[in-house]
Amino acid sequence: MTGFHDTLRSLRVWDTELPAFDPDSAPADPLPLFHEWFVAAARAGQQEPHTMSLATAGTDGRPDVRTLMLHDADDRGWHFASHATSAKGRQLAAAPHAALGFYWPVQGRQVRVRGQVVTGTPEEAYADLHARSTGALAAALVGRQSEVLASVEELERASAAAWERARAEPDTDVETWTLYVLEPSEVEFFQGDDRRRHLRLRYRRLPGGGWERELLWP
Ligand SMILES: Cc1cc2nc3c(=O)[nH]c(=O)nc-3n(C[C@H](O)[C@H](O)[C@H](O)COP(=O)(O)O)c2cc1C
Repeated sequence: MTGFHDTLRSLRVWDTELPAFDPDSAPADPLPLFHEWFVAAARAGQQEPHTMSLATAGTDGRPDVRTLMLHDADDRGWHFASHATSAKGRQLAAAPHAALGFYWPVQGRQVRVRGQVVTGTPEEAYADLHARSTGALAAALVGRQSEVLASVEELERASAAAWERARAEPDTDVETWTLYVLEPSEVEFFQGDDRRRHLRLRYRRLPGGGWERELLWP
């Protein structure tokens, strides 16, 4: 495919009116600000604001990253779900720390979250699995996430069988399906600015409880 460099150079970011952000009026805790920015992104027409990058460390200490769906964000932390047997599941078992990245270009906003990751109970994983569509259950039933696949035909057969099972036994469980909660120790809110005076507000959890807020140079 030709045109890669011309296309790359022709692209701009934030060709739009960016919202104002006043860090002085930001709440004492990051969660309400995350909720506010999330709703604002969705209302501003941001597609899939609930997709995020999840970065983990491999057992060799090297970073890894992939896209996941956000399942909740509450006082416990940021929730996501996956198979414990996947690459990320094994990495999290060995090194239970991770970072999340959200990017909402419609508003020139980025949110980064870092912290320890804890595993929810099997009941929570079951509830998570059954709160969503038949397709989501079928996808989870296929299993073997991150294993080498011999052929597309093999996936088609496994997927067809999983869809059939998901429809026939909607209450079935998938033992490897796991709910993870990232307990935030740091949350950073980045507001892009068209004069490049981007604002960065970082919350850091204090050992005794509560949060420290500080601005960062862009
Ligand atoms: C938009 C989008 C949403 C995704 N959501 C999830 C998810 O919620 N859980 C999941 O296990 N994989 C999800 N995936 C697939 C992951 O990106 C990844 O391919 C898979 O989890 C295997 O990652 P791993 O080999 O690092 O464990 C999603 C992919 C995309 C593109």
